[in-house]
Amino acid sequence: MTALTLSTAGAATLRADVVVVGVAKGAKGPVVAPGAEAVDKAFDGKLAAVLETLGATGGEGEATKVPAPAGLKAPLVLAVGLGAVPGKDEEYDEEALRRAAGVAARTLVGAKKAAFALPVGSAEDVQAIGEGALLGSYTFTAFQSVGKDDKGPLGEVALLGAKPRDKAHKAAAERAVAVAEEINRARDLVNTPPNELNPAAFAAVATAAGKEHGIKVQVLDEKALAKGGFGGILGVGVGSEAPPRLVKLSYTHAKAEKSLAFVGKGITYDSGGISLKPAGHNETMKCDMAGAAAVFAAVVTAARLGLQVNVTGWLALAENMPSGSATRPGDVLNMYSGKTVEVLNTDAEGRLVLADALAKASEEAPDAIVDVATLTGAMMMALGNRTFGIMSNDDAFRTELHEISEEVGEPSWPMPLPAHLRKAMDSPTADIANMGERMGGGLVAGLFLKEFVGEGITWAHLDIAGPAFNEAAPFGYTPKGGTGSAIRTLVRLAERTAEGDLG
Ligand code: BES
Ligand code: ZN
Ligand code: ZN
Repeated sequence: MTALTLSTAGAATLRADVVVVGVAKGAKGPVVAPGAEAVDKAFDGKLAAVLETLGATGGEGEATKVPAPAGLKAPLVLAVGLGAVPGKDEEYDEEALRRAAGVAARTLVGAKKAAFALPVGSAEDVQAIGEGALLGSYTFTAFQSVGKDDKGPLGEVALLGAKPRDKAHKAAAERAVAVAEEINRARDLVNTPPNELNPAAFAAVATAAGKEHGIKVQVLDEKALAKGGFGGILGVGVGSEAPPRLVKLSYTHAKAEKSLAFVGKGITYDSGGISLKPAGHNETMKCDMAGAAAVFAAVVTAARLGLQVNVTGWLALAENMPSGSATRPGDVLNMYSGKTVEVLNTDAEGRLVLADALAKASEEAPDAIVDVATLTGAMMMALGNRTFGIMSNDDAFRTELHEISEEVGEPSWPMPLPAHLRKAMDSPTADIANMGERMGGGLVAGLFLKEFVGEGITWAHLDIAGPAFNEAAPFGYTPKGGTGSAIRTLVRLAERTAEGDLG
C-alpha cells in the first residue's frame, strides 16, 4: 500500500515526482490555499492566474497539472480543488481536504513520491488528508494479469505542514494509516468475486486477522449452527454448496468500561434464492457482504488503535442460492431467538441472518448494538447512492450516530420505524413473515430486525445498500466497486464510547 510520511521539508525543496497544492473557489477566480506559499513563490506569485488560464476554478473534484518552474525540486505541480474559500476565521472542512487528497492520489497512479502541500490547521486535518490520500490510491488488480500498462498505485505520500515531532500530529497520521488500511482491506473483500470469497473463505480471513491483531475469533460452522439452533442463518445458506458461518470477533481492553456489539450482514452472494433476482439485478450482488466487511474492519481498527472499549463483531455469513435443498417461499424457519418466521420471499434473506446474529449478540447485554447491512433496494430509492439510512429503537442514539457519520464524512439520514408497518408482516402460520408492505420497504426491514434485539438493549441499524458499492465513476477518495462504507462511523462510535461520551 501507499506509504504515508510526515515531512518538515519545504514544498520547494523536497525531492518528489510532484507537489500537490490546494486551490479554492474565490469570488473572483481560483485562490491558492495555504500550505502552497513556497510553490506560489516559484511561480512569482502567479500560480492562481496560471491555473485560471488552464481552466481551473477551485471547484471540488478538479485536478490540474502544471509543469513546475525553476526553483521547485519536483518537475510537476498538481492543483486539486477544495471548493469554496472558507469564511473569515474558518478553516477548510475536513471532508473537503479528505476528498481533495483522494482526487490527488487517484490522479497520481504510477508516481513514486508525491509531496502534499495542502492546508493543515490541526491534527484532524492531518488525519483527513492522510485518509484521503491512502483511500484515493486504492486499486483492485488481484484478478487482472499484470500488463505493461499496469503502473501500480502512488508509492509514497509525504505530508508537508504537519509536525512529525508533534504527538497529536503523529498519532493522527498513525490513525489515518490504520483506518485506511482496514477500509481498503474491506474494499478488497467486497470486490473479491463470489466464487473466491464464500462464507468459509471470509471466516478464514477473519481468523488470520484475529491472530495478527490479538482479537479472539470463534467460528461456528454449519454443524455448530445446527446444534445451536440458528435457523435463520442456516435457512439462508442451505441452498448453497458453500455452507454458512457465524464468526465472532472479540476485542477486549483490560480497562474498558463499556462494550459495543457490531453485527454485519455477510451474504457472500445474493442470487435471491428461489425468489431469484432477474438478470440485471444480480451482477453486483457480491457486494451483499459489505456490512460484514465493515464490521470486521471496524473491530480490527479498534484493536490496532488499542481503544479502551470492548468491541465484539458478529459476521453472519451465508450464500443465498436456489437449489433442490434451498429454502422455499412458504417454509417456516425456527430462529435462534425462539421465534418462527414464514419465509415469503427468499430474497429478503439479510434480515434472516441478521435476526439470529442480533439475538445471539443480545445475550451478552452490550451497552449498544449496531448492525450494518446492504439490506434493501427501498433504502436506495429513498436516499440514493451516497447516503445510508439509520433506524434505531432509541432516538438519541440515532441522532448521535447521524452526527458521528457526518463528522467523519459519511453522509447518513435518520429514518423512522413506524409501528403501523408491523401489521403487514403478520403471518397466518408463523410468528412473523419476512416480508410486509412494499412501500417503506427499508423501514419494514428495520421493524423486522427490531423484534430480534434483546429487551432493553440500545440498538441501531445502518442500511448501507446505497453507498456500499459504487457502480458509477470514482469521485473524491471513493473508487468504483466496494467503498468501505460505515467503517469510519463505527470506529468513531467506538472512540467516543472509549472516551466515555456514549449517551
Ligand atoms: N441484497 C438485497 C438488497 C440490495 C439491493 C442491496 C440492491 C444492494 C443493492 C436484499 O437482500 C434484497 O434483495 N432485498 C429485497 C427485499 C424484498 C424482497 C422485501 C429488496 O430490497 O427488493
Ligand atoms: Zn436479497
Ligand atoms: Zn441481500
